Amino acid sequence: MIQQQIYLSSPDVGKLEEEAIVRAFHSGWIAPLGPEVDAFEAELAEYCGRDYAVALSSGTAALHLGLIALGVGPGDIVLTSTMTFAATTNAIVYTGAEPVLVDCDAAGNMDPLLLEDAFKTLESEGKSVKAVVPVDLLGKVADQEAIERIATQYGAVVLSDAAESLGATRNGKPSASFGLAAGVSFNGNKIMTTSGGGALLTDDEEIAKRVRHLATQARQPVVHYEHTEVGYNYRMSNILAALGRAQLSRLDSMMERRRQMRIFYRDLFSNVEGVEIFGEPSGADGGKTVDNFWLTSILVDPTKCSFTTEQLRIALGQKQIESRPLWKPMHLQPVFAEKRSFVNGTSEQLFLTGLSLPSGSVLDEPQREAIGDAIREFLREHDESLT
Ligand SMILES: Cc1ncc(COP(=O)(O)O)c(C=O)c1O
Repeated sequence: MIQQQIYLSSPDVGKLEEEAIVRAFHSGWIAPLGPEVDAFEAELAEYCGRDYAVALSSGTAALHLGLIALGVGPGDIVLTSTMTFAATTNAIVYTGAEPVLVDCDAAGNMDPLLLEDAFKTLESEGKSVKAVVPVDLLGKVADQEAIERIATQYGAVVLSDAAESLGATRNGKPSASFGLAAGVSFNGNKIMTTSGGGALLTDDEEIAKRVRHLATQARQPVVHYEHTEVGYNYRMSNILAALGRAQLSRLDSMMERRRQMRIFYRDLFSNVEGVEIFGEPSGADGGKTVDNFWLTSILVDPTKCSFTTEQLRIALGQKQIESRPLWKPMHLQPVFAEKRSFVNGTSEQLFLTGLSLPSGSVLDEPQREAIGDAIREFLREHDESLT
């Protein structure tokens, strides 16, 4: 029998989601907006410990409009993580602002020391920074307290890119509750999905209103179509919001299944010299900082291992098992190569030595066994200490 492809993180949807979509369909609210959107926004805001949520067509849209609502515009400098997906940097560029890329710490999140260095250097050149956009890499909340303290000291605002971290906590505070506003993503590969979608979260009523206005073509509240500025068509549809509500109600159990995948990989690699699970919380705060287990990735130390991540990726690929390097840092991307950056080599090292493994909550026991067998076979062939 030919084994079906095992993906990194595929959508986990079933009966509940089907019923929600059918419910929305029969309600007659097929157009964008509607009661499911209102309910989804209220439930999401509560889950994230925020006063307001605005459901949008993508996480990128949330970052784009969040930046505009925070007053970012052409010529402004925005400090952001170099270790991220392109959407973060793209959203900054959409506003006409200039992204400046900051490297990460060993956990992959923006290094506060380097951030401070960037602020100091730019200040010494007479340049001020408008905003900071830290990214919660692979489901782990960045050191938001330190980042906000530094940003505030230099008069900059923080927009948190929590696209990957919904459900995680830092010091007991939920992901997306940090910064003046935060963006989350419901893209198909995320911890929960609306097939495509995102949301902006904030405690500031004016920011929420502004984002809602801009996302609906900046239409003025009059009978005819009146526009005083350029808007966007970024709202989420009622049907997709119903899907989001069903997913949100299962988020904690889906996270638990991903946590089981993390434990599975921990056991699998526990005796392999030079391999570590990437970005595990230290537990030093008594478990108040927990990632959402979105993706489990390994780091392979080339000085201690007799194989590379690329060899493992190819071997898994031959067995229809997807795995993928960590994000290629933005300062190494041809499109952003000219952008200013403050780097320390950490993100580059993570890119070269990291590999994300299938982590979805939808993975079943036979799939897990297939992954385990494939990795064990690879290790037997490549790891001399195990033979
Ligand atoms: C860090 C990060 N920021 C932003 C986004 C953009 O989200 P979306 O795909 O919903 O536009 C993503 C994921 O796709 C992401 O991983």
